[in-house]
Amino acid sequence: CGIVGYIGQQDCKEILLRGLEKLEYRGYDSAGIAVLNGNDIHVFKEKGRIAKLRESVDEFVSSTVGIGHTRWATHGIPSKINAHPHQSASGRFIIVHNGVIENYLHLQREYLKDVELRSDTDTEVIVQVIEHFVNQHVEVEEAFRQTLTLLKGSYAIALIDKQNPDVIYVAKNKSPLLVGLGQGGFNVVASDAMAMLQVTDQFVELMDKEMVIVTRDHVTIKKLNGEIVERAPYTAELDASDIEKGTYPHYMLKEIDEQPLVMRKIIQKYQDVNGQLNVDTEIVNAVNEADRIYIVACGTSYHAGLVGKQFIEKWAEIPVEVHVASEFSYNMPLLSEKPLFIFISQSGETADSRAVLVQVKELGHKALTITNVPGSTLSREADYTLLLHAGPEIAVASTKAYTAQIAVLAILAAVIAEANGKALSFDLMQELGIIANAMETLCDQKEEMDTIAREYLSTTRNCFFIGRTLDYYVGLEGALKLKEISYIQAEGFAGGELKHGTIALIEHGTPVIALATQEHINLSIRGNVKEVVARGANPCIISMKGLEEEGDRFVLPKVNEDLTPLISVIPLQLIAYYAALHRSCDVDKPRNLAKSVTVE
Ligand code: G6P
Repeated sequence: CGIVGYIGQQDCKEILLRGLEKLEYRGYDSAGIAVLNGNDIHVFKEKGRIAKLRESVDEFVSSTVGIGHTRWATHGIPSKINAHPHQSASGRFIIVHNGVIENYLHLQREYLKDVELRSDTDTEVIVQVIEHFVNQHVEVEEAFRQTLTLLKGSYAIALIDKQNPDVIYVAKNKSPLLVGLGQGGFNVVASDAMAMLQVTDQFVELMDKEMVIVTRDHVTIKKLNGEIVERAPYTAELDASDIEKGTYPHYMLKEIDEQPLVMRKIIQKYQDVNGQLNVDTEIVNAVNEADRIYIVACGTSYHAGLVGKQFIEKWAEIPVEVHVASEFSYNMPLLSEKPLFIFISQSGETADSRAVLVQVKELGHKALTITNVPGSTLSREADYTLLLHAGPEIAVASTKAYTAQIAVLAILAAVIAEANGKALSFDLMQELGIIANAMETLCDQKEEMDTIAREYLSTTRNCFFIGRTLDYYVGLEGALKLKEISYIQAEGFAGGELKHGTIALIEHGTPVIALATQEHINLSIRGNVKEVVARGANPCIISMKGLEEEGDRFVLPKVNEDLTPLISVIPLQLIAYYAALHRSCDVDKPRNLAKSVTVE
C-alpha cells in the first residue's frame, strides 16, 4: 500500500493524485483521498485504480491539506467501504494506514464497545480509538500518542483533524514512511520519495516508533515518550525521468530493455581505477569470517539467491543455504557457529525479509543487504549494503533487479574467492561486459519472442519450465514471470524430477519450455525433453550456442557457462510479457499482486 499527504499553500488534490499514481505499484485494488476545506472534510474513494478515483474527485473542491492512500488488501476485501481514508464515528478524524494491526480485535473490545464500525479494516480501529481518547478530553496530539503506544503490529499512518486544518499527524512502525520538506510553506508525507519528487527532493527518514507533527512550516519528530528527535534531511537522488515510461507501452518492457545498461553500470560501480573488483573490505571480511552463509529473500529475489548460492559455493567455497523469508521466520534452521546473513530485496522494504533481519540481529548475527534502494529499511538495519544500481523498478514483475542481483552476487563471490587465493580462471568483469552485449542482442529479438509467446501460450491453460542446475533456477523465475502477468498456471521443475510425479500433468499439446545452457547436463535435459514429448508435450527448447541441436526453438549467444542465468532469463521475461499482451492482461499491474509487500 502507499500513503501520501500534503500541507501547504497550493490546492493539493492534483499533488495527492499524482503521488498516488507513482505509488500505484505498491497496491492498486482501491484508493482514496481526503482533503480539508476550512473545517469541511471531503472524502473520495473508489474500488480499482487511481484513474477511477481521479474521475470521482470533485474538481471544484479546493484544499491545501489532504491525505491519500492506494491499497493492497490485507483485512477486508477490496471495496469502496474498505478503501482508505477511514473516518472516526463523528467524522472528525480521518486516517490512512499501511501495515497490519495485530491486536485490533482486542482494541475494539477494550475501547470501542459502543462504536459501530463501518468497515472490516484494522485501520478504522486506530482512528476510532483516537477519537475515543479525544472524547475523554485528551488533547489530540496526546490521544494520537496514546493510541500509538497501544498498537501492536506494523503501521505507517497519516491523520488529519477536521477541527485543525493546520496539522498532519504522522507515525511509523515497521512500514516505510518519509516526510518531505518543501521550500515555501509546505511539507509532504509519502511511503516512497518517488511519490513526492514532483514537489521536493528533500526528505527526512523516520525510524520505528516515531511520531511527527507536520505543519506548513515545521516538521517535529518525537519519540513515543515525547522526546524530540533532530534529524537532517537527505537529497533523494532519483531522476524524475527514471520513473517515466517514455515511449514504452509498459514499464516492464522498458525495464527488460534497460538490463544491458544496468549490467554496464554495475561493472563500472564495482571496479576500481585499476580495473580490479571493488567491494568494501569490511564486507569481504565479514563474509570470509562466516562458516556458512544464509541467503534470505522472497519472490524473484529468492530466485536470484538460488543462483548466487552456486557462485559462492563454487568460486568462494563457502557453504550457502537459501531460504524463503516467510518460512525462515517461523521455522529457523539450526544455525552454524558463525553465520552471515545476506538479505536480497529489490525494494529493501519487504516485511517478510525484514522480520527475519530483526530476529537475526537480536541473535547478534551480522547481516548484509543487497538492494536497489539506498536508505531502505533493510539497508539501514543491516550491517552492510551492496547496491544494485538498477534505477527504479516500477513494473510489478521484477526483471532488471533480478539480473542486477545475480551480477552483484557474482561480484561478491569473485571478490571473496580472490581474497582467499582462489582467483577465478576468467576475468569476471570482462565476462559481464560480454553478457551486456549478449543482453542487447536478445533485447533486439523481441519479434521472435512475440512469435513464440503467440505460438505456445496464447490459449494454453498451463506451461512447464524445465532445466537442470542453473537452468532449473532460471526456469523457476521464468515460471514466476509467466504466472504473475499472464495468469497461466506455470511451474518450474528440475528436469530429472519430472518423472517422479509431475509428468502425469503432461497432456497433448502442453507447452514445456526447456533450458539447455549447461554442457555437462546437456544430454540429460534433452533426455527429459524426449520423455515429455513422448507424452504429447509441445517442447520449446532454448539452448546456447555450441550446445544447440536441430529442432531447438531459440539459441542464446555464447557466454561463460557459470553466468548463463543473466541471459537465459531474458527470453523468458519477454515471452511472459508477450503472452500477457496476447491474453489482454494488464502487464504492469497484474491482479492481486503488489510490487512492494510491506505486510508479513
Ligand atoms: C513482491 C513482488 C515480487 C518480488 C517480491 C520480493 O511479491 O511482487 O516481484 O520479487 O515482492 O520483493 P523485494 O523487493 O524484497 O525483492
